[in-house]
Amino acid sequence: MATRLFEEKEHASSYQKYRFSPAQEIQDMIFSYLHEKLNKPYELAVDVGCGTGLSTKILSPHFKKVLGIDISKAQIEEAKNAVKLPNTIFRVSPAEEVPVDDASVDLLTACAAVHWFDIEKLLTEVDRILKPGGCLAFYTYTLNMELHYKYRSEQLTKLFLEVKDFLTNYQNEKMHHVQTEYKEIFDCIPYTDKLRIVDIVTKTRISVGDIIGFCQTLSAFRIYHRLEPENAKDYIKAIEKRFLDIMEVSSSETEVELWCKHVVLLASKPK
Ligand SMILES: C[S@@+](CC[C@H](N)C(=O)[O-])C[C@H]1O[C@@H](n2cnc3c(N)ncnc32)[C@H](O)[C@@H]1O
Repeated sequence: MATRLFEEKEHASSYQKYRFSPAQEIQDMIFSYLHEKLNKPYELAVDVGCGTGLSTKILSPHFKKVLGIDISKAQIEEAKNAVKLPNTIFRVSPAEEVPVDDASVDLLTACAAVHWFDIEKLLTEVDRILKPGGCLAFYTYTLNMELHYKYRSEQLTKLFLEVKDFLTNYQNEKMHHVQTEYKEIFDCIPYTDKLRIVDIVTKTRISVGDIIGFCQTLSAFRIYHRLEPENAKDYIKAIEKRFLDIMEVSSSETEVELWCKHVVLLASKPK
């Protein structure tokens, strides 16, 4: 059964605001893999579990047509408002039933999403829709993050880990795929031509306010908020204050450097 944790409209809006667009390093990795396996021109890319379209719009310059699908109506509505590109469309649909023809897709992507799907059904569907030589890219950022700010990096990172550990109490069991860096999902991919890359760390500047916003978009925080709304609000407010106290600043606009570890799975269907 599908895991429905991304349905609320307000969640979709904060998602669009606080979640990260795929890092350039990861985009380069995906497209150079595709170029190795399949000759241009590329007709069709599909982004499954596309959310608000952050991971869909990066595909647009490379393909004639791009389709983003998601099981959540709220996320698709947000995507339609946020991404207005002539070659890109969005549809409500489960990842396990992609509304395209057999052997029609050059690249299928899933960013921060594949762990939510029924993996066996998804892989059968991927095999149906990929062209021979077509590629899949399942990738995600992990919560293996470090926060760097002057000489306070150790304390900030420790506090972030504390939040991560606390939210584990509310976590859906499917998140174990992210914690184990997609190892099981990789093993299930039926193609021999496949790669699992786990040593990518990106560094970006981000404000304390945006880190707090990001934490509130996490599925575990959404569950906490659903079960204990007042406690969840107080908790996140107290965490923001502790971040600022450690940094000895008063503005949540103050930026830190976020080091984030990513996982990328790439595979190509036999020709
Ligand atoms: C963490 S979000 C990632 C969104 C987007 N790819 C991004 O990078 O911002 C995961 C998305 O997967 C969607 N989802 C979960 N299960 C799904 C399923 N079985 N089929 C399609 N989408 C699904 C959720 O609705 C949610 O929008």
